[in-house]
Amino acid sequence: MDNLIFNLVKENPQLVNAVFIVNSFDKLDKNIFSDREIDFIQHQIAQDAKLIPLNYFYHWNFIVVTGCKDDCKNEAESLRRTGVELADFVNKNELDFLTIIDNTKAFEPTKALVEGLLMSLYRFDKYKNQKDPKKSLKRLNIYNPKIKEKEIEELETMTQAVSFTRDLVNEPASTLNATRFADIVTQQAHNSVLNVELYRKEDLQKMKMGGILAVNQGSSEPPVMVKLEWKHPKAKSKKPFVFVGKGVMYDSGGLSIKPTDNSMDYMKSDMAGGAAVAGLMYSIARNKMPIHAIALIPATDNRVDAKSYSPGDVITMYNGKTVEVMNTDAEGRLILADALSYADKYEPELVVSIATLTGAAARAVGPHGIAVMGNADDAYFNKLEASGFNTYERVARFPFWDDYASMLKSEIADMKNIGGASAGAITAGKFLEKFTNHPFMHLDIAGVAFTHKPRFYYKFGATGVGVRLLYDFVKELAK
Ligand code: BES
Ligand code: MG
Ligand code: ZN
Repeated sequence: MDNLIFNLVKENPQLVNAVFIVNSFDKLDKNIFSDREIDFIQHQIAQDAKLIPLNYFYHWNFIVVTGCKDDCKNEAESLRRTGVELADFVNKNELDFLTIIDNTKAFEPTKALVEGLLMSLYRFDKYKNQKDPKKSLKRLNIYNPKIKEKEIEELETMTQAVSFTRDLVNEPASTLNATRFADIVTQQAHNSVLNVELYRKEDLQKMKMGGILAVNQGSSEPPVMVKLEWKHPKAKSKKPFVFVGKGVMYDSGGLSIKPTDNSMDYMKSDMAGGAAVAGLMYSIARNKMPIHAIALIPATDNRVDAKSYSPGDVITMYNGKTVEVMNTDAEGRLILADALSYADKYEPELVVSIATLTGAAARAVGPHGIAVMGNADDAYFNKLEASGFNTYERVARFPFWDDYASMLKSEIADMKNIGGASAGAITAGKFLEKFTNHPFMHLDIAGVAFTHKPRFYYKFGATGVGVRLLYDFVKELAK
């Protein structure tokens, strides 16, 4: 799938490995299908089949069924999941091209099917000597008389961005330290028209970013903060949207080391928020969205060493506030807090943080949704919720009452870095809120960023969650 070529077919699509998207209410085209085929297909549709493979000896064609009357909760998601069935078929038969033929007169069905197909075909197999399947899809032809070139490009960049994010998250920390992360993101940014700025350890020291530096103390690798910027000359609003993503390359917990029980096994994924923001910015820039957007990704690992920061330490953050560290495993909020305060200087319209921040969020919502909270206007949350439905990266809004902030009180500093035994996802959000003076939304993706068993188009590992959600959200805001 690495070098998948998208191709918009203008006329006479080849009817080999053709995937016809068919609305179950429409009549099948007699110029394409024989009466016996139509009989067969209609019989299958009546039995609720969503994907109907047709075998023609030397090739396959497929019918993808769309359209529903009233029990249809989310048509796009249903098509994405049909994309999973199609992907399994492609893999099993090692098909190297497909031609999607969409006569439903809209772009949405093609888009959803392709998303499901490509997310399912994604593999992280660079470390496997034996690839399975050996051959992968090389070419995706799309025929839809109603589709514009720009829509295909947008779909192509989106699917690339999601794979890019998943690759970063799946990459082990041994080969992806903060510096390497910054290099890869910079390279990808140059493939678009993103402006990149890197704040290295010396810069962070000069800026007195006490949160990032404290977390980095136990690390043999230097930290870095990545800034990405996209400014459309005709941006709708002068003020930028700022996205802050957690970039903990590996989270051992530090001296408050994680209790074993496998809790450290996949902590290479603790930079999933940062990776999502990088994928998001790439697609915003590639698609020339008419906005001004800035991303900040503080990146470091959280390790055990003689120099590690310790429970009991009091640290001074970039904005001057002091924090009593009560648990070195609550490191994400410390690095995000510095980035959030730094973002103030851009006078953002809206600040969005995205992070694998708390086990509490994962326990509360499970793998089915993202915990969201914040103090921004309800209108923003309603839009995010709608984007969650559109992309099926669903969000569950948490309360954000000030009572939760009081759980962070410290006897000797301005605050502690942990709350109490309850409401851990919210006290983490409240901690972050103290470091920004602008409308704020926080997405905790701890439960959804990484999967240990197949769920729909996520087979194993990184999901890339956040990229499609925030892209859809920003696109809505840009309208
Ligand atoms: N990276 C973890 C959160 C996490 C847990 C992500 C599970 C993905 C899966 C975060 O840094 C962390 O350790 N949070 C602590 C906070 C606690 C010490 C207040 C947690 O949730 O246990
Ligand atoms: Mg931690
Ligand atoms: Zn963490």
